[in-house]
Amino acid sequence: MSSSPWKTFLASQLQTNIERVGLSATYVSLATVRPDGTPANRTVVFRGFAGEDHRSETGWQSELLTVTSAKRSRKMADIAAQPMVELSWFMAGTQEQFRVHGRMVAVQAGTTSDALRGVLPDPVTKKGAGSAKDTSASSSTGLATRAFLTRLSREGAGDNSDGGNTFDWQVERLRQWYRMNDQLRGTFPEAGDGEPLAIENMDNEGWFVNHDPAKQKLLEAGYENFALLVMQVESVDYVNLTTGEHSVFIKPKERQEQAMEESSKWVFKRLS
Ligand SMILES: Cc1cc2nc3c(=O)[nH]c(=O)nc-3n(C[C@H](O)[C@H](O)[C@H](O)COP(=O)(O)O)c2cc1C
Repeated sequence: MSSSPWKTFLASQLQTNIERVGLSATYVSLATVRPDGTPANRTVVFRGFAGEDHRSETGWQSELLTVTSAKRSRKMADIAAQPMVELSWFMAGTQEQFRVHGRMVAVQAGTTSDALRGVLPDPVTKKGAGSAKDTSASSSTGLATRAFLTRLSREGAGDNSDGGNTFDWQVERLRQWYRMNDQLRGTFPEAGDGEPLAIENMDNEGWFVNHDPAKQKLLEAGYENFALLVMQVESVDYVNLTTGEHSVFIKPKERQEQAMEESSKWVFKRLS
């Protein structure tokens, strides 16, 4: 599957911005609508495309943007009531603005892949055979990918085993839990004192392990409160402050349902 033109462009501009200004280039404003119809907005971190890791080859790819959240946060109620959201992303290193419009859904403890199939038509697809390999210099990233691949092959185990060929949203939530830093993980359990929570290893099933039983309990409680927000993109509005270019990538409704190459589904319009 070839990538859509906006994804290739946004990913490349983000990489340039990370090189120029650091990881603050991943901060974006997420606008939602509150259940009472009024607007809400907050800064979040873009966590990459579902199934992908730029430092460790997972063997999977998608066009779905991800953000992490606590399940108790207000944005969860906003999205449940009105899934249409917008991200506003100013890339200071290249003086560009991307406004990404689309539908956001939450993957929480208990959310099944079957329940998401109808609301997230864009798939997470497998790349060619043998593409998954850990090229990561960071052990936590490498562990996340190993746990992800282990769980996918376990989920497919049994009578209907497909050898890890089916993507599973709970396994993706688990991978993103591994990828978070210890400080942030420590903020998730309600009973905790906010101390960092390290994942020291994984067991044979791909589950996270901390060898201190008290910390393991907190890790498990934190994971219950951890949610992954997944965004299916419908349009991307682009402004370049240096050149004055204003353009938009749109996925027309009639093309969203058709079986077409991702790259040919999109219409690009130069507005100025
Ligand atoms: C730089 C920065 C990054 C942040 N990243 C996230 C994030 O990735 N996810 C998140 O839920 N909140 C993040 N926050 C906190 C949110 O801005 C917000 O305060 C919190 O999510 C509660 O918002 P809500 O009540 O609207 O859900 C971040 C804040 C800052 C300043």
